[in-house]
Amino acid sequence: MSDMTAFIKGLPKAELHMHLEGSLEPAQMFAFAMRNKIDIPFKTVEDVQAAYQFTNLQDFLDIYYQGAQVLVTGEDFYDMTSAYLQRVAEDGAWHVEVFFDPQTHTDRGIEFATVIDGIVGALKDAEDNLGLSGGLIMCFLRHLSEEAAFDTLKQAEPYTDVLLGVGLDSSEVGHPPSKFERVFAAAKERGFKLVAHAGEEGPPAYVHEALDLLKIDRLDHGNRALEDSELVDRLVREQMTLTVCPLSNQKLCVVDQLTDHPLRRMLELGLRATINSDDPAYFGGYLAENYSAVTEALALEKDHLITLAKNSFLGSFLDQPSINAHLTAIDAYAAAT
Ligand code: ADE
Ligand code: ZN
Repeated sequence: MSDMTAFIKGLPKAELHMHLEGSLEPAQMFAFAMRNKIDIPFKTVEDVQAAYQFTNLQDFLDIYYQGAQVLVTGEDFYDMTSAYLQRVAEDGAWHVEVFFDPQTHTDRGIEFATVIDGIVGALKDAEDNLGLSGGLIMCFLRHLSEEAAFDTLKQAEPYTDVLLGVGLDSSEVGHPPSKFERVFAAAKERGFKLVAHAGEEGPPAYVHEALDLLKIDRLDHGNRALEDSELVDRLVREQMTLTVCPLSNQKLCVVDQLTDHPLRRMLELGLRATINSDDPAYFGGYLAENYSAVTEALALEKDHLITLAKNSFLGSFLDQPSINAHLTAIDAYAAAT
């Protein structure tokens, strides 16, 4: 392990942008397919890996939704979530706020309760056994209708206490944030935090909509905001957190190569950027690997990494005393290494 990799692993970090369905590893996909007697169009783990070549977001989403079909029982959701939490704790995460896509499952006849009970059980056990705190964010699939999102929000009503917030994901272009303005207003009334994917493939106008119409508390991706300097100024002024996903951006061709990644520029502009893995089983790396890859590609230094780790707690939905405690822990770690 290089010095920098060891430094990254030991650095207290939060992960704020990770889709649980995107943590489903090929080996787990086979195991769940077998125990649930579901056919999948792959024979070996190598077949699966060979299929994970994407030229854009939709290429990936098609295969990601197909993979999620092996998730049937509460045990499947528990096991998938536990495996991720174990893995990210090994990467030095102290806190995670994870996404799930209920509609991917309820549209196949899986009960909302099955999905959420499995996930919440794993989050509780990780808190007890690993000391890893966690929050759960329910995403609406933006390629589906506003009505379907409202129906999902209704199904979530009994779980208001265990859900931290709502998000917006799936195919971005052609499905602007404005489509979900009323659903987000209703979610805010119920006390949910609000986040949305915007500016991954979509134009800066979608980021404006996410801010002005959805009234988001945090921006997922946001890469294309850099095309609009007034928007950048606003994001800096409002201290909006961007959950940036370097290996995802590389795999989905949002950037041609990691050396072109805008993360370093984002920091230099004063944006509150964070590093996250998005869909680690599909994009070739968990949290620490995202830090390491971008550190190498952009020649980041320890001070950048400390800022990024601090941003991950500043951008979290933890309460202020917890955030302060994590920032103090980062300072202590930085002073000791
Ligand atoms: N769902 C899972 N990962 C996603 C991403 N990067 N963008 C949009 N929707 C997603
Ligand atoms: Zn995402």
